[in-house]
Amino acid sequence: MNARFFTPPIPNGWFQVAYSDEIKPGDVKSLKYFGDDLVIWRSEDGELSVLDAFCPHLGAHLGHGGQVKGNSIECPFHAWQFGTDGKCTAVPYAEHVPRKARLPKWRTQEVANMVMVWHHAEGEPPNFEIPDEIAEWGSKAGVRNEEWTEFTERQWTIRTSNQEMAENAVDTAHFHYLHGTTNMPKSEASAEGAILRVHSDAGMETPRGTVEGSIESLNYGFGLAIVRFKGIVETLNVATMTPIDADHIHLRFNFCVKQTAGAEMARGVGKAFVAEVTRQLEQDIPIWENKVQYEKPLLCDGDGPIGIFRRWCTQFYCWPDKRQAAE
Ligand code: FES
Ligand SMILES: [Fe+2]
Repeated sequence: MNARFFTPPIPNGWFQVAYSDEIKPGDVKSLKYFGDDLVIWRSEDGELSVLDAFCPHLGAHLGHGGQVKGNSIECPFHAWQFGTDGKCTAVPYAEHVPRKARLPKWRTQEVANMVMVWHHAEGEPPNFEIPDEIAEWGSKAGVRNEEWTEFTERQWTIRTSNQEMAENAVDTAHFHYLHGTTNMPKSEASAEGAILRVHSDAGMETPRGTVEGSIESLNYGFGLAIVRFKGIVETLNVATMTPIDADHIHLRFNFCVKQTAGAEMARGVGKAFVAEVTRQLEQDIPIWENKVQYEKPLLCDGDGPIGIFRRWCTQFYCWPDKRQAAE
């Protein structure tokens, strides 16, 4: 366990591992997430597959030189082939395919051009769902919503944990003292199973002055946060946070703006919005990268709904069995 954090190293949940349009039919890419080596590829029929990377034969990494052949992926070392379900489909120089030959398959779901995978430390199936559509992006079938601008993407690798980053949304005092916002937002948090909803009445500082509005953030576990800002303009940030290992997070932001006031205006606001969210994030990063996480922090009455947040968090971990540890 990592000494900076009291929680188990990698939480359970749905996490983004790629963008759908990065993996076209016939493409193969290596991935490193959850402390594991993975391969992502798409069959010629368009089926997406995420598998453990190391070939069960002699251990080659399928993400480095593996090739899509029809609806299978072929290992670069001795050309064993595996289907989208991970099962070995052919060994070109053997009469029998060894029965046990398979690569563990990861459960995937594509939504709004994101490839999400289910991670569970003990291999259990999903115990919560994520949306299958984000209306501002477009329909399930992939038809874009023209009322909203194209998505602007930003990415970072940050030395922290999921829970530490997520706590930011309910830590109302830091907005004023770290980010310099004029007022401390009033935040209310409510948890429904794996979903945490945080509502804040907050102005957003822009180069044109403060824009009054509200922020509604829907957190689907630790991996996906859909943040809607409503003011003079409506903006959206789809944020995904994926553990790379016990100490690093891959953060992706996807911004878009409703083009009601015209495309020119939306572009201007969009730029200011991205700049402001990025400015705040870059102030958070040195705090996160160097802080420790207390199991029992010393809170005061001006702090936000950190208690509700902390209780919601516990469901995403496989806690080590205390009885076993005591033995
Ligand atoms: S290591 Fe993959 S086929 Fe031999
Ligand atoms: Fe922050």
